[in-house]
Amino acid sequence: MPNTRVGVLFVCLGNICRSPTAEGVFRKLLAGSDSGLGDRVVVDSAGVSDWHVGEAPDPRSQDEALRHGIDLSGQRSRVVCENDFRDFEYVLSMDNEVLEVLRQACPKRYRKKLHLFTEFAPGVGAPEVPDPYEGGKNGFAYVFRLIKLCSAGLLKHIEEAGDLKG
Ligand code: 4NP
Repeated sequence: MPNTRVGVLFVCLGNICRSPTAEGVFRKLLAGSDSGLGDRVVVDSAGVSDWHVGEAPDPRSQDEALRHGIDLSGQRSRVVCENDFRDFEYVLSMDNEVLEVLRQACPKRYRKKLHLFTEFAPGVGAPEVPDPYEGGKNGFAYVFRLIKLCSAGLLKHIEEAGDLKG
C-alpha cells in the first residue's frame, strides 16, 4: 500500500508556546501550498511536561501568531504519549533538552523519527528554537520567525522526501 499520509508532531516543554506556534504556522503553510499536501499531512503538537495540560497556548504566543493571521486559541496542551512515536513520521523537538527526553521515551525502532526542528533550516544557523517562556516579547517574535523558516524547510523536505506516494 502506498503511504498516502504523513504525520508531523511538534514537541516542546510545555506545549503552550513553541510547539503550538509551530502547529499553527505549519498548518497555515500547508493550507496555502499548491503541493496538494494539505489533506495528507496530519499535524499536531505536544509537550514533554504535564505542567499546562488542557490549557490554551500562552497569550504571548497567541498574540504573536495573530499578528500573522494565525489563530492558536483552539489548541490545548497535552503530553507526548508512547503511541505518538508509532503514529507520527516526524517527531520534531524544539530544543536539545526536549530531544533528550524524547530519546529516552521513544522505542528504539522509532528513533529515526526524532529530529531537532532547526535541522530543517540549516542555513539559519540557529541550533534550537529557544524557550521564550521567561523572556520578553522579542523572544516570542524571534521564536515565531525561526519557526516560520523551519516550517518552510520542513514542507520542502516532505515534498521532496517521497513520503507521500500514491
Ligand atoms: P514551551 O514553553 O515549552 O515552548 O511551551 C514553556 C512553557 C512553560 C514553561 C516552560 C516553557 N514552564 O516552565 O511552565
